[in-house]
Amino acid sequence: MSALLLVITGWDAAPWERRFRAAAPGRDIRLWPDRIGDPAGIAYAAAWLPPAGIFSRFGNLRAIFSLGAGVDALLKDPTLPQVPVVRVVDPALMRRMTEYVTLHVLMHHRRQRLYDAQQREHRWYEHEQPPAHEVNVGIMGLGVLGRDAAEVLLRLGFRVAAWSRTPRKLEGIECFHGAAGLDAFLARTEILVCLLPHTPATEGILNLALLRKLKRDGALSGAYLINAGRGMLQVDADILAALDEGSLAGATLDVFPTEPLPATSPLWAHPNVTITPHNSAASVPEEVVGYIVKQIECFEAGQPLANAIDRASGY
Ligand code: NDP
Ligand code: OXD
Repeated sequence: MSALLLVITGWDAAPWERRFRAAAPGRDIRLWPDRIGDPAGIAYAAAWLPPAGIFSRFGNLRAIFSLGAGVDALLKDPTLPQVPVVRVVDPALMRRMTEYVTLHVLMHHRRQRLYDAQQREHRWYEHEQPPAHEVNVGIMGLGVLGRDAAEVLLRLGFRVAAWSRTPRKLEGIECFHGAAGLDAFLARTEILVCLLPHTPATEGILNLALLRKLKRDGALSGAYLINAGRGMLQVDADILAALDEGSLAGATLDVFPTEPLPATSPLWAHPNVTITPHNSAASVPEEVVGYIVKQIECFEAGQPLANAIDRASGY
């Protein structure tokens, strides 16, 4: 039977390998870099942050599976073979992201960082609290993750808008798209949630010029950024500048251009920045492996692969 190669960096490969072996006992499972075996036998690869150039030597490769929802680390390899690239679409991962987005929208909305600081000073003081229905949340990216987060925030009462590449419609959500829709979307947004993929078109989009366009005179009297998409979307120095000049009142960052975030980054100590280690919606072997094994079985039975990305748009 054709082999499946696991290529994993940045994560512990052992639980993935164990899970693949359990879910596909008849399959020849190989592990990069030490147990590749005969390259001609490898028909499938499942990867997270693979080294560039790795796949070009497997001439019989039929499909590559990303172990995460994002495929940017795969597509940045100019030698990536022209085979389908499949990403993770999983309800549990989606819900984890919605938890994260909801937690941090509410944290900024309910000024929890301010109350945490007051608690450290033993200070009892109540700030004015606008209702959710006066607060404008804007989500960049209305895909699998953006849609679910938008619907939950809407249910909590926020005014929700979203921005996508192509026109989208979602009940109760004000939808904007493309370069022509971006400024109007930003001008009405107080809490900006970024769930975009990293592509050539989105790289560095979260920069000072964009952050200055957010709405600062709304119910929250300031603008906030939550980025859980990809680090390469944001310019760290611009986020710091926006915080320092008041264009941003606070930021939650789960992803960074350099990960792990270097210990020397001034973001760590900024009083208005909340940092998490790229774990807003982790890929879990127990959830993802079954999805990939099933896809391979269906593919070998002649069915199309689900969630194969469009190489031209880059996501
Ligand atoms: P989808 O592919 O389902 O959705 C992507 C959305 O982004 C779509 O709405 C798409 O527009 C929009 N988009 C893409 N390019 C542009 C552009 N140039 N301008 C405007 N909008 C654009 O992806 P998911 O929702 O599943 O995931 C989004 C990203 O979240 C992933 O790519 C990954 O980087 C990140 N992620 C981060 C995790 C973490 O732990 N931090 C975990 C999982 C994912 P359109 O609707 O028109 O196609
Ligand atoms: C993903 C991620 O893309 O974990 O799934 O970032």
